[in-house]
Amino acid sequence: MPHAPPPQTFKVKSFGCQMNVYDGERMSELLTDQGMSAAAEGEDADLVVLNTCHIREKAVDKVYSDIGRIVKNWGRKDGSTPLIAVAGCVAQAEGEEIMARAPSVRMVVGPQAYHRLPAMLAEAAQGKRVTDTDMPVETKFAALPQRRKSGASAFLTVQEGCDKFCTYCVVPYTRGSEVSRPFSDLLDEAQRLIEAGAKEVTLLGQNVNAWAGEDGKGRSTGLDGLIRALADLPDLRRIRYMTSHPSDMTEGLIAAHGEVPKLMPFLHLPVQSGSDRVLAAMNRNHTVDSYLRLLDRVRAVSPGIALSGDFIVGFPGETDAEFEETLKIVESVSYAQAFSFKYSPRPGTPAATMADQIAAQVMDERLQRLQAALQRSSLAFNQASVGLRCEVLVERHGRRPGQWLGKSPWLQSVHFEGDCAIGDLVEAELTEAGPNSIAGQIAQPVRNRPGPQ
Ligand code: SAH
Ligand code: SF4
Ligand code: F3S
Repeated sequence: MPHAPPPQTFKVKSFGCQMNVYDGERMSELLTDQGMSAAAEGEDADLVVLNTCHIREKAVDKVYSDIGRIVKNWGRKDGSTPLIAVAGCVAQAEGEEIMARAPSVRMVVGPQAYHRLPAMLAEAAQGKRVTDTDMPVETKFAALPQRRKSGASAFLTVQEGCDKFCTYCVVPYTRGSEVSRPFSDLLDEAQRLIEAGAKEVTLLGQNVNAWAGEDGKGRSTGLDGLIRALADLPDLRRIRYMTSHPSDMTEGLIAAHGEVPKLMPFLHLPVQSGSDRVLAAMNRNHTVDSYLRLLDRVRAVSPGIALSGDFIVGFPGETDAEFEETLKIVESVSYAQAFSFKYSPRPGTPAATMADQIAAQVMDERLQRLQAALQRSSLAFNQASVGLRCEVLVERHGRRPGQWLGKSPWLQSVHFEGDCAIGDLVEAELTEAGPNSIAGQIAQPVRNRPGPQ
């Protein structure tokens, strides 16, 4: 198949979790460093990188339909098609299958190998099809260019991979085992992001609270130590982290929620199910009771903290009564927000071959009931914050002219009007609540040039 070498414009499309969004940004930086430029919105690109997610079944189907659409719609007059690269977790898990099934794909690159994109691109431009799904021990991060661009809120991957092996999950296979990036590299990257305009940094990891390293003085430290060091950077105003595993919530990290004002009052702590039998079958290593006790300890140091979670309905063997227990935990926690999914059997995971897979219709019904309960819970949380004054970080323009969108400390999306700019922290009063967003009014003049606290 002829191609138009060499590619000059690119498009990176990321699916899945925030870490994929982060990886997508890093790939874009890498390609920009090669002298390429991002294709304008709505314009065909010479190179399309599909940065994929393997977490549930539909995600894989989407990759193949996306490839089909690009080939069909983007064919050029000279008969060439764009270079297509498949990156991310589907690339890692099904690289060979993709190469066999989709001849238009020229490159397959796993999440731990994307720093090699430029070299692969050179080979692909010669008409070769290239796969790299190695998980090198040396870190890819050192090979990536420095950060130069950032929005008001930035992602920063601090930890990658997972050693937990929940029986339903592909992540330990697609991302590899737990690796923490070094403390000083992270402070450097945070500093660059701040210089590029970030006011908030969200620390990312598949198990972000498993991060471990040595601080500047050579002392072993956990995520709380990293958070405290980041909080000392004067122009960084907010710190968040996700996703955490209940087994890695240390005393130090809990204490940080009460002691570090820049650490936002929000905790995403997935529980997955409200049934101890299901949790054991999932290999989650916690019980309903240990999870609830953990939340009590967090609330003791940070009373108004917003809690968020992930849920799976229809795990193999889940009975009606066990599902009811999940509804019960939703009632008792009062989540501010949450994600809920139908169980999806993933090839190679232990749960995929367990007996008593649940019928689709039963899963549909359970998901609807769970989502209704979670909607009620987030609406109640948002309603309870009406009348509060809080700082909102202005992140982007809203849909209507003059409207802004920002985030409250509790990660609520707040929309409001007024005289401000992206990156400002404005004092706002929260005035009207919906389940997914909240209306606000600027209450104080803009504080966009804060000094050290
Ligand atoms: N590391 C995080 C999240 C990983 S994936 C954690 O441990 O919580 C994000 C969410 O996707 C999970 O929390 C889980 O709720 C969901 N998920 C993972 N595998 C799934 C599967 N096979 N079917 C349905 N949902 C799944
Ligand atoms: Fe998947 Fe469990 Fe690891 Fe989370 S902790 S990434 S759900 S295996
Ligand atoms: Fe998906 Fe991989 Fe993230 S499977 S959820 S992109 S770690």
